[in-house]
Amino acid sequence: MDLTNSPSPQILAESLLAFWADVGVDCLYQDEAIDRIAAGLRPPPRRIEPAPIPSPAASAAGSKASDLEAAIAQARVLAGQAQDLAALAEAIAAFQGCPIRFDGAATKAVFSRGPADAPVMIIGEGPGAEEDARGEPFVGRAGQLLDRMLDAAGLTNRTFITNTVFWRPPGNRTPTLDEQRVCAPFVERAISLVRPRMLLLVGGASAKAMLKREEGILAMRGRWFEWRAEDENLELPAMPTLHPAFLLRQPAAKKKAWSDLVSLVQRLDRPERPH
Ligand code: URA
Repeated sequence: MDLTNSPSPQILAESLLAFWADVGVDCLYQDEAIDRIAAGLRPPPRRIEPAPIPSPAASAAGSKASDLEAAIAQARVLAGQAQDLAALAEAIAAFQGCPIRFDGAATKAVFSRGPADAPVMIIGEGPGAEEDARGEPFVGRAGQLLDRMLDAAGLTNRTFITNTVFWRPPGNRTPTLDEQRVCAPFVERAISLVRPRMLLLVGGASAKAMLKREEGILAMRGRWFEWRAEDENLELPAMPTLHPAFLLRQPAAKKKAWSDLVSLVQRLDRPERPH
């Protein structure tokens, strides 16, 4: 019998891992941990970067920018060639131009779920761990909350769900604007193939990228904006709302998200005026 009553090293390790997972740390950037306590709790010395030598640095930045533009151009061609959603899903899965695809955390492309003729398209930020593992958007805890809200609003089976990027950003960080720009032609093609009547933009990163606006989500949520396609003559009403992951952390904000959904459904179910 263990009289000391102290937990075994395995239990301690499991408990520590569970703690890290709970606070959202689910991948490693370095092989070795840095023991900051042993280091006397001092912040690491700030590295003084040498002043950039203009010409090679500028040319590296220039080549990065042109890589980005080339990737966007390639995405545009591939997306434009896809004549239906199945072909678009294949094009995304084969696309090598989005850097997060190779960042280690992502295992597969996560494109969409929901009926191809849905009247509402929901666009989130990017897949998380669960979505990455299952290959479908919004299937983790945040997605389950989203589904419950859609169900309560009468929107089950009336939404086509996708994201601004199709690979999981490492450590669940917010996708960068460049990563979103590379994936944007595929998102736009999805909108053009589904032809929803309106867009619901979930979370600040989605709203900012889709509407090309700078305001925070709390200023944009619940308002109607006009989304405009880059490559064709297509405009749709779009409403930003709070991300369900935020609602899991701030349950008091659920009433705001609910009121956004209610006004979206009111507009959706409003009889269309004859032209
Ligand atoms: N968060 C998102 O923005 N999208 C998902 O698919 C899952 C979580």
